[in-house]
Amino acid sequence: MMHVDSAESAGSRLGAVLSAPRTGVVRLSPAGPWLVTTHADARRVLTEPHLFDFPGDVTRSGDLSGSTGESRSGHTVFAPLAPDQVARGVLTFERELATALDTHDRTRPAEPYDAMVLLRQPVARSTTAAVLGQLDEARRDRVAALVLDWIDALAPVISARRPPGRWRRTRRTEKAARYALEDELAPLIGPEDTPAQVATLLAAGIQVPIAAGAWLLAWLGQHETGDLDPTYAVWETLRLTPPTWITARLTTEEVELTGARVPAGRVVLVSPLLLGRSDDLVPGDDHDRGTFDPDRWQDGLQRPGAWLPFGAGPHACPGRTLGTAQLVHLARWGVDRTIALSENVSIDQSRGILPSPCRFTASRREIP
Ligand code: HEM
Repeated sequence: MMHVDSAESAGSRLGAVLSAPRTGVVRLSPAGPWLVTTHADARRVLTEPHLFDFPGDVTRSGDLSGSTGESRSGHTVFAPLAPDQVARGVLTFERELATALDTHDRTRPAEPYDAMVLLRQPVARSTTAAVLGQLDEARRDRVAALVLDWIDALAPVISARRPPGRWRRTRRTEKAARYALEDELAPLIGPEDTPAQVATLLAAGIQVPIAAGAWLLAWLGQHETGDLDPTYAVWETLRLTPPTWITARLTTEEVELTGARVPAGRVVLVSPLLLGRSDDLVPGDDHDRGTFDPDRWQDGLQRPGAWLPFGAGPHACPGRTLGTAQLVHLARWGVDRTIALSENVSIDQSRGILPSPCRFTASRREIP
């Protein structure tokens, strides 16, 4: 059987964060960054913005919401999506996922699905419909395609080892894609929003759920789907492989956290992926917290989500209800099927975490 690489055995930044001692705040290198390892410190960092400022472009960890560089001030606060926006987004996701599956089955029946491809259109159109409201479909699809273009153009900028110079080709391509999107958005939005803010909202709300959905399918491909609860499957995915696995803030003054004082002007990291392995937040034994086991949430003694996969405080995710609903629909589709991975899945750390490759076949389960 194919397998999904574990974050525990991954190298690079992911490995460094997961192997840090979990005793309080840890300095990862002499000048920082500092990593918080307790839930209490993580909450403080995210909910006390006067001490821990939201940086414009410091982690470049791949989360669009934190790394769109020039396009945002770093201080925009997004209101959570309203229930009618979420409802429209979910309906669109259900329709568009059915269409994407059908198109694949008709045109390439012999090929496995590629999760990162399969989910692009459904998520992009769903989030666009939710954010922009009633639009004719051609317009909605044009905006969704432009957001995907911008996300694709941002990828090499985000994953570059050093920030590419302003005039480098990757930067110019990214800028052109962003301007094309903003031009399309300008006549569609109200006076209280700017095209740049709405572009950021759309990009964050499309890139991250695509990655989360692909991880969900990867994990379902590793597990007997039969009696799985789709909601718990979603929480387990957001625990083991939260796409925004790390986020950063900058200290505005010297701050005392558990175990150490962090000087002013230092980067402090919060990692939902690390917190999702804590014995005080997650049921199970130390050796099994690295495995996908949705049933661990069944007894209801601990609350899923305490590891902050949607952040917390003023910059918490405004799209969490929509993101969760998209994933639960996908999980319902998945648990009705036998999902088989076509290849082993590795962890791509170039922007957030992505499953790569993530190809699979799906067949309807026989109901006995
Ligand atoms: C499963 C899906 C999703 C996950 C796991 C997720 C995760 C997150 C996390 C952890 C943050 C906080 C980052 C930080 O503190 O630095 C965040 C912020 C954000 N998310 Fe999501 N998100 C998801 C879906 C969405 C959707 C559907 C939208 C839009 C419709 C969205 C829009 C945003 C925006 C705009 C921010 C930035 C908020 C700010 O900086 O004030 N996200 N998300």
